[in-house]
Amino acid sequence: MLKWNAKIKNHRVKFLALWFLHTFKRRYFAVNFDPVLACNLRCKMCYFTDPEYVKTLKGQFSLSDLDIWARQSLPQALKLQVGCGAEPTVYKHLSRVFELGKQYKVPHISMTTNANLLQYDSLKNWIENGLNEITVSLHGVYQDTYEELMGKGDYNKFHTALQLITDLKKEYPNLLLRINYTFNEDNFTELKDFFNVYGKYAIDILQIRPISKIGNTAYNNFSLEKIIPLYDAFIKDFKQQAEKHQVTLLAPRQKEDLIQRKNDSSLIFNYTYFYVSPTHFWKKDFDWKHQSFRDYTRQIGWGKQLLSNVFKSKKQLRHLLRDQNLNYDVNI
Ligand SMILES: C[S@@+](CC[C@H](N)C(=O)[O-])C[C@H]1O[C@@H](n2cnc3c(N)ncnc32)[C@H](O)[C@@H]1O
Ligand code: SF4
Repeated sequence: MLKWNAKIKNHRVKFLALWFLHTFKRRYFAVNFDPVLACNLRCKMCYFTDPEYVKTLKGQFSLSDLDIWARQSLPQALKLQVGCGAEPTVYKHLSRVFELGKQYKVPHISMTTNANLLQYDSLKNWIENGLNEITVSLHGVYQDTYEELMGKGDYNKFHTALQLITDLKKEYPNLLLRINYTFNEDNFTELKDFFNVYGKYAIDILQIRPISKIGNTAYNNFSLEKIIPLYDAFIKDFKQQAEKHQVTLLAPRQKEDLIQRKNDSSLIFNYTYFYVSPTHFWKKDFDWKHQSFRDYTRQIGWGKQLLSNVFKSKKQLRHLLRDQNLNYDVNI
């Protein structure tokens, strides 16, 4: 979908395609699912260290609600992303989530995790049920930084988990391992040693991205001033290291991207993004336990919205987005 989105430049064609996919019950949604709003760690950059925010994070899906979740969100899901704003591995029915993903034939199933609780048997079971990408989050190359920034995180357990995934990849060669490194002024310089420490693991993709302010977090230095003058030289060398290790690097291309804090979200993102957590089910007024997805989309005229966007100019669409209070920049 991302490749398709990048290739097609004309927004009218994109919305016509979405309308077609919706009308003919084809897959186009990226379902992002947090089955539980809890975490075993307290990373200092994350809202799990914001006491006020943590008060709002509660609840989990019961087994019976999982079946309804799947029926309502998976038939048209192109991708299922488990673990978005919390930690999926603390959820006791996680195996069932992947079983449902397989049952509904979702083509791409991914999980984002801090990896500290990963175990061989459960991981193997999830992979057999269709999990095809594991993204693990990392906030420090070395033990001191890792354990300082990822409160309650265990560096040795993290390495054990990476080795476990590396071993499982021999059995399941299609499984992808991705690392997300969120950088700030205190963990950036050690990134240059990333491949010395992690080069032995079978990493397919490495994404490095700057810290954002996502709450009143324990770590509150959001400045990139010390990083900006170093960035261009760093990224030139780092790209070469990634190529040598056959790792796909996703990173800000140059220091200007850090200065502008560029965000490449696409306009159609808002029409394909389907977020579910114990307190949120796609749209605010969707009575998902009692109303079918089809009835609800008919009620709100979802298909008509997609079709009418075909006839709107980029300017009108940008205004529409702003009215919907979406606080990211738009590239159509
Ligand atoms: C909120 S976590 C939820 C998933 C899972 N618990 C994990 O850590 O992978 C999702 C991602 O947010 C990133 N993150 C945490 N705090 C951040 C911040 N202040 N700015 C940008 N990304 C952040 C984490 O590194 C992680 O990759
Ligand atoms: S980044 Fe992930 S692991 Fe760390 S506290 Fe936030 S949700 Fe938990």
